[in-house]
Amino acid sequence: MSPTTLITGGAGFIGCALGRELVAKGDTVVAVDVLQPDVHPGSGRPKRLAPEVILHPMDVRSGSAWDALLKVVSPDRIVHLAAETSTGRSLVNASVHASTNVVGTTEMLDALLRADAIPDHIVLSSSRAVYGEGEWESEEGPFYPDPRTHEDLEAGKWDPTDRLGHSATPIPSRADRTTPHPTNVYAATKLAQENILGAWTAATGADLSILRLQNVYGPGQSLTNSYTGVVTLFARTAAGGGTLDVYEDGNIVRDFVFIADIVQALVASLTRPPRGPRTIDIGSGSATTILDVAQRLADRQGAPRPEITGRFRDGDVRAASTEIDMATTDLGYRPAWDLDKGLEALLDWIGEESNADPQVVSSGPPDS
Ligand SMILES: NC(=O)c1ccc[n+]([C@@H]2O[C@H](COP(=O)([O-])OP(=O)(O)OC[C@H]3O[C@@H](n4cnc5c(N)ncnc54)[C@H](O)[C@@H]3O)[C@@H](O)[C@H]2O)c1
Repeated sequence: MSPTTLITGGAGFIGCALGRELVAKGDTVVAVDVLQPDVHPGSGRPKRLAPEVILHPMDVRSGSAWDALLKVVSPDRIVHLAAETSTGRSLVNASVHASTNVVGTTEMLDALLRADAIPDHIVLSSSRAVYGEGEWESEEGPFYPDPRTHEDLEAGKWDPTDRLGHSATPIPSRADRTTPHPTNVYAATKLAQENILGAWTAATGADLSILRLQNVYGPGQSLTNSYTGVVTLFARTAAGGGTLDVYEDGNIVRDFVFIADIVQALVASLTRPPRGPRTIDIGSGSATTILDVAQRLADRQGAPRPEITGRFRDGDVRAASTEIDMATTDLGYRPAWDLDKGLEALLDWIGEESNADPQVVSSGPPDS
């Protein structure tokens, strides 16, 4: 019999893409999702959700909703995606982030025990955000910088320096080497999810895979949520002929990974269950500056040159990129989408969406 996979947040960007792939493989897929209005305008069933996916609209924070669900569904494995995902909003709305990301996770686990429905395997979509500023290297050697302060950023001191003030360069993260140091509330809640699931699965015997995703982009990412990832918001603005506002000095570094590659990693983690708990970084393996991605999008769309604004956001980290060799060894993961190919697919999709609704190509503040 085909396994039943429960995807929390299954109507979101990553959830819809994963659901489509799993039903194509013959799995029974159940999605739970509160259809948060920011992400789902109209709050109806998203058109990108495969018709074969059984959707239960519910809030993961509700113990009684979990009890009702687990009376009719017995998941063999759970991909836990439901979350508040905005870095920026998490600083001013910490309780909402904590309740969805932390309490939502513990309500799910408590209900699984009440229903005596411990799954074989839980996969958590964690985030590169848990690393905070990550590890850097100066002539003194490797070090973990403190979070950049508001005063630093106001003074245009973008790059962290070592304790003697020497300049430094970022080191790509690697889960078995880089220590997490969250610098914003969203990141702290993602690390809490990791720790809670680590403790619970150790006690119950369920397998656990934690995938720390870099910046995911691609068709299906919300075009109406102003806290969506920076690539999709840049693409939307460029498609509307707008000027892209590039924060700091343009040299914020990210690893932009295409949605199909994330689906590849999630499916591989389900089909290759771990021998013990595992934590793996998933990205494209390439570091790109925000200015570079803005320039590529503006060039493709014939939009004005991006403007480096010197604006900044408290809680943003300067650099995030990763090594992906652990993913290749453990999951057979090989990203298939380079940035240019991914941006082209994203812009094609935005073109189709804006033909259907011209409102989608207007600008909004990016979450990087
Ligand atoms: N997109 C990225 O760049 C990225 C990077 C790293 C990690 N992640 C993680 O991947 C996961 C999915 O992200 P996404 O990009 O698909 O985001 P998304 O916002 O498109 O999807 C999240 C889904 O969760 C649902 N949701 C929110 N609160 C809920 C609640 N209380 N109960 C039930 N459902 C709820 C939303 O309605 C939405 O459909 C998240 O856990 C996020 O932290 C995403």
